Amino acid sequence: MAPESIKRMEKTKVAIVGLGTVGTGVARLLLDHGERTTRHAGRSIWLEKAVVRDLNKPRDVELPEGVLTDRLEEVTDNDEIECVVQLVGGVEAARSIMIQLLESGKDVVTANKALLAEYGAELFDRARELGRSIAFDAAVAGGIPIVTNIGQCLSANRIESIHGILNGTCNFIISQMEEQGISYHEAVEEAQRRGYAEADPTMDVDGSDAAQKLAILSHLAFGARVHWKDISRQGIESLSPTDLRFAGELGYRLKSLAVARLEGDELELHVGTQLVRRDSPLAEVGGAYNAIRLVGDAVGRVWFHGMGAGRMPTASAVVADLIDSVVGRTAITFRTLQLWSERPARVLPKPSATAATRYYLRFTVQDHPGVLADITGALSKQDISIASFIQHEQHEGPSDRIPLIIMTHQTTVGAADRALAEIHQLEMVHEPAMRLRILD
Ligand code: NAP
Ligand code: HSE
Repeated sequence: MAPESIKRMEKTKVAIVGLGTVGTGVARLLLDHGERTTRHAGRSIWLEKAVVRDLNKPRDVELPEGVLTDRLEEVTDNDEIECVVQLVGGVEAARSIMIQLLESGKDVVTANKALLAEYGAELFDRARELGRSIAFDAAVAGGIPIVTNIGQCLSANRIESIHGILNGTCNFIISQMEEQGISYHEAVEEAQRRGYAEADPTMDVDGSDAAQKLAILSHLAFGARVHWKDISRQGIESLSPTDLRFAGELGYRLKSLAVARLEGDELELHVGTQLVRRDSPLAEVGGAYNAIRLVGDAVGRVWFHGMGAGRMPTASAVVADLIDSVVGRTAITFRTLQLWSERPARVLPKPSATAATRYYLRFTVQDHPGVLADITGALSKQDISIASFIQHEQHEGPSDRIPLIIMTHQTTVGAADRALAEIHQLEMVHEPAMRLRILD
């Protein structure tokens, strides 16, 4: 479309609150590629204001005179601004900003999953009362349009399961440790440098970020009402190169997965590192990429793959939401989906002890007669059957600390809890066992 005709078109004024990694990408797309948004929105989307905390901080985007401000009121008091992109991280300040925006009559787009996972019910109720909408596709899996796909494109299905690599930082760290042989801490620093990690990377590496995203997806896909803190989480902080090596030897890769699986009207939910077969698509997902395998009763298995973090991939999802909001599509889906409403839950969380899985167990033991018999005895008492086993010969005589790997057949989380509690009492077993699920 020629620039002249764009100028003559209707103009919708928008604002961004938060001009960090993602906000800068959104501003760039709006300022440098206005013809794209105009083509899709049928009107020009005009960046009127960008709100930050610190006006003196250098920005990676050149803004027209008068756009940058540190006063939120320049947005809330401006009735010409219809829609606002809210890209402030964290929870409490973001919540207050979101409420001020809704109450001043703005539709809001956000990428802040921590905010929605914590205060989704309150914010969605408030938006409904005020006749406003909230769009949040960028909150889960960055550039992958998974929220729109589940909420709209797959709505004819009963979703049966979701297996997702939902945290780009974790996937990046594990891939770097595996491919570059660098340490866990070096990999975390690199993820922060590249803008993948949250301001506090603890939320990424301890599984909280993925649990927040899983809670949002479970809400959308299964009508579950689960708080992210009630989802069992295992972080990647204690992963060691030893586990990466043994997983490789056994034909697997390690991946931090978020899983939601329907069994009857119960939903199994967990986040943690799993062994994934090397020849499977999930095992091939490297770097800060995210991937989601979803099974629906009508569509069957569907895959999504793309960048789950980073400036431009996340901005891609935010700007698509902005266009949907500006043209009124978001308002329709927001009304019909009734997210976080008082509707009763369609499924209940499955008690974690009853969930079935296979396990990789790594014990650190004294190389001594009877150790193996004691461990296998404790497993057998819980009816846990061993599928394979690795102990490498020590060439320098018996050692007081060697790794011993056991792959189990299918068991339950509760049975493994009981067996490990007994094994950890054994004198010749040092350190708690590393225990990882196996995805078959
Ligand atoms: P970021 O780089 O830390 O940027 C946050 C921005 O918010 C900064 O510009 C900051 O201003 C501004 N800000 C903070 N408090 C404010 C306040 N009270 N009033 C006005 N502005 C305020 O964060 P980000 O990485 O862009 O992430 C933003 C959100 O997107 C987060 O919720 C994050 O979880 C989510 N997200 C991020 C990614 C990613 O790849 N980074 C991907 C998906 C979702 P100053 O610059 O002046 O300090
Ligand atoms: N810190 C998040 C991640 C950003 O690494 O996946 C995207 O939500």
